Amino acid sequence: MDFSVYLSTLLSLLSQCTAQWCYQSQSSCDDICRDPIQWAAQFPSCGGLRQSPINIVTKKVHVNSALPPFNFIGHTNTLNITVENKGHSAHFALPQSVRLTGGALPGEYRAAQFHFHWGGNGRPGSEHTIDGERFSMELHIVHIKEPYGSLAEAEHDMAGIALLAFLFEETSDDHPHLDAVIAALGRVQNNGSSTVIPNFRLSDIIPSAKDLHSYYRYVGSMTTPGCEQAVAWTLFHQTLSISSRQLDAIALQCRFWTGQPMTDIFRPTQPLDGRVVYRSRASAALTSVILWWFSVFSVVLGTTGLIQ
Ligand SMILES: *[C@@H]1O[C@H](CO)[C@@H](O)[C@H](O)[C@H]1NC(C)=O
Ligand SMILES: *[C@@H]1O[C@H](CO)[C@@H](O)[C@H](O)[C@H]1NC(C)=O
Ligand SMILES: [Zn+2]
Repeated sequence: MDFSVYLSTLLSLLSQCTAQWCYQSQSSCDDICRDPIQWAAQFPSCGGLRQSPINIVTKKVHVNSALPPFNFIGHTNTLNITVENKGHSAHFALPQSVRLTGGALPGEYRAAQFHFHWGGNGRPGSEHTIDGERFSMELHIVHIKEPYGSLAEAEHDMAGIALLAFLFEETSDDHPHLDAVIAALGRVQNNGSSTVIPNFRLSDIIPSAKDLHSYYRYVGSMTTPGCEQAVAWTLFHQTLSISSRQLDAIALQCRFWTGQPMTDIFRPTQPLDGRVVYRSRASAALTSVILWWFSVFSVVLGTTGLIQ
């Protein structure tokens, strides 16, 4: 082979190497991609002080009564949504008609896409952990603040992106609406392929806002490069269910851009670096406090003969 051809082939291979990041699970491609420990070498924000995901230590969480519920807009609309294998995960594109306000976020946010983080072969795969426990799977719904048009525009605003996160817990019964999601993943096995899920409603997957009073809030980042530190994170206390059958199936559908099975797609948890995690004061907890006072009062009043 001509030396200059050899050299240019080598250079293009090298530049391809430095251009790609990967998850720890793609270990056999150590030589050609950067695993999470090395992301910061190419994407400086990944080494920042407000990174995600994190481990939430529940006894250190600050309860904050200024974290109201959300208003979800368009969550019950019937949509045709496009699913695409992005090489690192599969994205489910959402139209601009899906929005949210409230939740103590500074403005109105429109949905861009949702995606899942999973493990494989029985291993849990959530990104956030609670008191060190990793959950089966995690759903992220990505919203961009108005009037930004893209992640690049929102990047310079600490709350430019609102990410809603739900943890999944394994149950014996199937989640009634996840099979459509699994089937769609089976139609986008390779990087770049896409499909449509007809008649999809976000409300089939997640509860309505009125049932989601209790959540954790902290400021963080995107969990994939460039790890933009522009995210107001909301992790709901209520978990979603998925059966072990569905969990096994979901991790078998797609392949990474390297051709390997797309498994263990989560970033390791990052240091808090002095940040505080807040928890909303759940109305359910408030109700139980009121009920507790009421029962104390009735006992007092009852024993003094005021309630017969
Ligand atoms: C979804 O696609 C079907 C078939 O292409 C079409 O008839 C329907 O109007 C679409 N629905 C929406 C909400 O776009
Ligand atoms: C994955 O597919 C996208 C297009 O959808 C392409 O831009 C990208 O280069 C592909 N990645 C690899 C490593 O092939
Ligand atoms: Zn994510």
